[in-house]
Amino acid sequence: MIFGVLLAGGIGSRMGNAEKPKQYLNIAGKPIIIHTIEKFYINEKFDKLYVVCPAQWISHTKNLIRRYIGETGHIMVIQGGDTRNETIMNAIRQIESEYEVDDDTIIVTHDSVRPFVTHRMIEENIEYAIKYGACDTVVPATDTIVQSDDKKIISTVPDRSRMYQGQTPQSFRLKKLRELYESLSEDEKKTLTDAAKIFVMKGEKVYLVDGEVSNIKITYPYDLKVAEILIKDECREEE
Ligand code: CTP
Repeated sequence: MIFGVLLAGGIGSRMGNAEKPKQYLNIAGKPIIIHTIEKFYINEKFDKLYVVCPAQWISHTKNLIRRYIGETGHIMVIQGGDTRNETIMNAIRQIESEYEVDDDTIIVTHDSVRPFVTHRMIEENIEYAIKYGACDTVVPATDTIVQSDDKKIISTVPDRSRMYQGQTPQSFRLKKLRELYESLSEDEKKTLTDAAKIFVMKGEKVYLVDGEVSNIKITYPYDLKVAEILIKDECREEE
């Protein structure tokens, strides 16, 4: 079985929009979260999609899905957690309560604030997760990455040709992800920024899927302006 998990449990503090989390802001007159769900919804390989959002936004999210997508049987809205990985774990718990999960069950996790994910990226995530057990979508780093341990001076400048920027989707064998996460100490969990790192910390291989520069994460108000331009290009291509 293959499940899509759309992460919408954050509050978008860097967007500075107190009224609603950024995933509910509009681009081209439609909420970002709906643009993202639509990309997954059209892929028939998913047995079910889980949209994981803050508790107080569940009914709003359900209403949006009903209004823009229409059918909700194939999409379930559930509550997220305090951290991104806890949000993923809530989805895993829900899936395990509904289905007989086996070792080959796959989840494709994706930031709801990355509406420019492509069909090709989702397909390759599914393919790699089935084949290898874990994969991450990345693009080669364009800027030189500089590491500073004290935030004042450069500690090291890693070789750029070996640096990538992580995007999403990130896809995994569901049971393996849960087992590895549960094996981490609380201190180890605090050092996590994403789910791929869980595998890396435990010495498991995570394969790379090619992302796209356009697969941006809407984080700051500037990204919203870029998204408005990108969405126009996307609409033009569809015409
Ligand atoms: N996310 C989540 N659960 C959390 C925190 C984040 O599902 N507890 C999701 C966000 O909704 C977003 C994705 O993870 O789709 C990427 O995170 P980020 O851009 O950092 O989102 P926020 O945490 O909402 O933003 P900020 O850090 O600015 O508060």
